[in-house]
Amino acid sequence: MPDVDVAEAEDFLRTYYAEAAPSIPFQERLREVRSEIDATGGYAHTQAELTFGTRIAWRNAARCIGRLYWNSLSVRDRRHVSAPAGVAAECVEHLRSATRGGAIRSTITVFAPDLPGAPGPRIHNEQLVRYAGHRLPDGTVRGDPRSADITARAVALGWDRPRPPGRFDVLPLIVSGPDGATEVHDVPRDAVLEVPIRHPEYDWFAELRLRWHAVPAISNMPLVIGGIRYPAAPFNGWYLNTEIGARNFADTDRYDLLPAVATRLGLDTGSVRTMWKDRALVELVRAVQWSFDKAGVTMADHHTESRRFLQHVAKEEKAGRSCPADWSWIVPPMSGGLTQVFHRYYDEPDPDLRPAFLPPDP
Ligand code: ARG
Repeated sequence: MPDVDVAEAEDFLRTYYAEAAPSIPFQERLREVRSEIDATGGYAHTQAELTFGTRIAWRNAARCIGRLYWNSLSVRDRRHVSAPAGVAAECVEHLRSATRGGAIRSTITVFAPDLPGAPGPRIHNEQLVRYAGHRLPDGTVRGDPRSADITARAVALGWDRPRPPGRFDVLPLIVSGPDGATEVHDVPRDAVLEVPIRHPEYDWFAELRLRWHAVPAISNMPLVIGGIRYPAAPFNGWYLNTEIGARNFADTDRYDLLPAVATRLGLDTGSVRTMWKDRALVELVRAVQWSFDKAGVTMADHHTESRRFLQHVAKEEKAGRSCPADWSWIVPPMSGGLTQVFHRYYDEPDPDLRPAFLPPDP
């Protein structure tokens, strides 16, 4: 690990001092950080700097439509944890405290950073909760095809997968420690709140036996604050209806459920011009929304979330900041033109903007 870049540390401290009002004077803190980097190659964020840094990383996330609440991110400081078993246990605690029985709280857990001579841990799963994708002898995948590779990896590392393999088997966590050794740890069932998917009008919908987990917690994006890299810093918000209904369930390389739903609806799937896909999609997203609402699990809808996002953009403008946004990620994957976020462009995202969540390591 190379030494921490002093200029990046200074940049961050300037932002922090400009926006927050910390008690230690700026020059004093800067001197402190400089001499710490001189002596050790790295430095430790104060708790307040860490909290601020994580929130700004969220605010800078150009693909996220849910940024209106960036300033309320709840931070779990676990910088002293780096052994795989400890990381896995804290990830489970993260899920429990973020789930709150359905009143989802936006939460981040920050594990040990990468420092010279002391690398941090790494979580290989893309989310704390994902469903396995079991490759079957006939070449098809049972479960989430997106997870086929990580599922095979878990099995190779000794994961005892459920038999028979199911469509919604929660994957174990795959964590590497500072010494590079990789371990597999199960996520206890009672730490994963799930919602069975039913439809407000069609009773047959329950027979599709669909379910989804309540908390989307990204776990493979390194967090960078002031030149310090935290390779494991899982964070969660709450779901937007379309993420599950219009993508996870609908994409042809995911659960690919539109044909089954359309058939049950009695639609003519012989031609795309009957718009069977569009009609099935609406009912699928309705079912997801209704089921989460019924279960008392926080879930945003695409209309409200779009409105809130534009509120956020306006707030940022008023604060004199630009709000970088990636149009193709912000606009919902259904009924785009019905939401106001569709009808405008945004400030171009700057890949060097910091603090930030970085793309996953390969
Ligand atoms: N789209 C991802 C999924 O369906 C989740 C990404 C994060 N989403 C969120 N609402 N914070 O699992």
